[in-house]
Amino acid sequence: MEIKNCNQLRASDAGQPARLQGWIDSIRDHGGILFIDLRDREGRTQIVFDPENESLASQFGNLKPESVIEIIGETLKRSDETVNTSLDTGEIEVHATSLIIHNVSETPPFPMDETADKVNEDLRLTHRYLDLRRPSNINVLRLRHKAAQATRKYFDDNDFIEVETPMLFKSTPEGAREFLVPSRLNPGEFYALPQSPQQYKQMLMVAGVERYYQLAKCFRDEDLRADRQPEFTQIDIEVSFIDREGMYALMEGLMKQIWKDVLGIDIPTPFPRMTFHDAMNQYGVDKPDTRFDLKIHDFSETFRDSDFKVFSGTVGNGGVVKAFNAKGLADITQGEMKALEESAKILGAKGLAFIKSENGEWKSPIIKFFSDEEKDALKEQLEVEEGDIVFFAAAEWERACAILGRIRLEAAQLLVKRSKIIIPEDAYNFLWVIEFPLMLFDEEKGEFASTHHPFTSPVPDDIELLDSDPKAVRGQHYDMVLNGVELGGGSIRIHQTQLQEKVFKDVLNIPADIVESRFGYMLKAFKYGAPPHGGIAFGFDRLVGILAKKNSIRDVIAFPKTQKGQDLMAAAPGDATDRQLRDLHVARMIKQDS
Ligand code: AMO
Ligand code: AMP
Repeated sequence: MEIKNCNQLRASDAGQPARLQGWIDSIRDHGGILFIDLRDREGRTQIVFDPENESLASQFGNLKPESVIEIIGETLKRSDETVNTSLDTGEIEVHATSLIIHNVSETPPFPMDETADKVNEDLRLTHRYLDLRRPSNINVLRLRHKAAQATRKYFDDNDFIEVETPMLFKSTPEGAREFLVPSRLNPGEFYALPQSPQQYKQMLMVAGVERYYQLAKCFRDEDLRADRQPEFTQIDIEVSFIDREGMYALMEGLMKQIWKDVLGIDIPTPFPRMTFHDAMNQYGVDKPDTRFDLKIHDFSETFRDSDFKVFSGTVGNGGVVKAFNAKGLADITQGEMKALEESAKILGAKGLAFIKSENGEWKSPIIKFFSDEEKDALKEQLEVEEGDIVFFAAAEWERACAILGRIRLEAAQLLVKRSKIIIPEDAYNFLWVIEFPLMLFDEEKGEFASTHHPFTSPVPDDIELLDSDPKAVRGQHYDMVLNGVELGGGSIRIHQTQLQEKVFKDVLNIPADIVESRFGYMLKAFKYGAPPHGGIAFGFDRLVGILAKKNSIRDVIAFPKTQKGQDLMAAAPGDATDRQLRDLHVARMIKQDS
């Protein structure tokens, strides 16, 4: 007899025999008659066990939640008063005539329903196979699958070729620490797991693939956070004969397809664009969350000659004074204020000056220093009204932006908590951030570093500034941002040996022998007909996290790692034997206790 899934039987099946398999979701005993909700990944069906059937009754003792069973029975319509309208199969129940118990389950260590979300995450990760079995988590895997399918469909429709690139590679310059793999056959040498397929995908362009994509595993040995895993997945893309405009249109199309196929939502295109400079100036980050306003304004000129020396002194030293109005947050508690100050200090602020507008007057420890003109300028530009609070940062431009950027986000959370900002569930604020500087000056090291990676092409008009004013050179880089999350980033690349060599040696100051050993093959490849090309990579886990409305990407990865980079279920990483290490030509530095 054909096996049905647990979300299949309807009133029209009444009177028919049925065969079902699944997990026992719950058991209710009504005077000896057992009612079992049988669950599989599709849904639930109620099964009725009559104790007068002796062959069934003899097995009742083994019917425990999460046990796997198979039943054959008759589908019957439920009486009107027992119909369960919240269940797709709620109009019927199956009266079991035979039962096979495939596996009796022990009592799970946590409830197998949505209350488990509150259970300690380590306990759930240790039993990840149980945590995943919960319907909401199975649905996340299904959603992830749909997003991957939409991606593959889009690229197939647009003539892309999916190419796999090696996992055993060598060190790459993307900035993160790498996972090394000792080579048995090459004593003393190491592979590195790829931080991204960047160099291979560029070689595919030289090879003439023209349009490449891959759902690529990437590895970065970074400190982990909610939006970072040591191994994660990118939608990785590279295209020949394309410019920035071409990339924007192509990638907007991808997002359109994914949102349509996965959520049934039509997202409007083209996406708005914002320069890196404007993003920093107005939102204090290079990944602005534009679902709410609270924009940052510059008051350096207002306070250039102010009596408040903290502000005028900063401007005199080449710094800036910036402020934003956290509209309606004058009722901030002392505890909340302290937390904001702490955040500001972590970013190097000396303090977090503020002005409250309360009971018809402006209140602040520093208000006595402000002239009427200064107050008028603030009031007008920030549209200060009763109940508002204005926060200030006086520092170098980048630091002042970053401080207020962080305070803006934290203030927004406080305003959301008070329902003074309402962020709609399905607000998807896509944004391109463009015109990044090609290089940033690393104050600590005293040298320039690529803002993203050294393969990004300068904006053609700026190439002549590479020698005279490297800081002013803009890169052909673009980031796609969604609701304050950096979904992806990419660039038009350098495809000429000469320019690439110049960036490595003259601008980044990488010694010639290192350029040769690390990138020599690329410089050589570009001599054999390299087409102009560009690409991008999206964090697939982050993208799925937003689609699934999850705060942590751990929730959208089947087997994620903890903050310490461990797989608690399989207990990885683990020890290696002396024999294995010897084969790999690796010696232990730290003596093992055991
Ligand atoms: P980038 O380093 O910006 O670019 O990475 C692209 C995107 O990958 C995601 N991402 C991560 N997701 C989860 N965990 C991590 N540890 C992690 N690190 C990065 C982010 C990010 O935007 N080769 C270039 C792309 C290119 O130039 O084409 C690259 O890897 O969403
Ligand atoms: P002070 O004169 O140093 O006591 O500072 C007066 C107020 O300004 C205090 O509330 C400080 O927290 C704040 N403050 C000090 N330095 C800065 C700064 N660079 N940016 C913003 N606020 C500051």
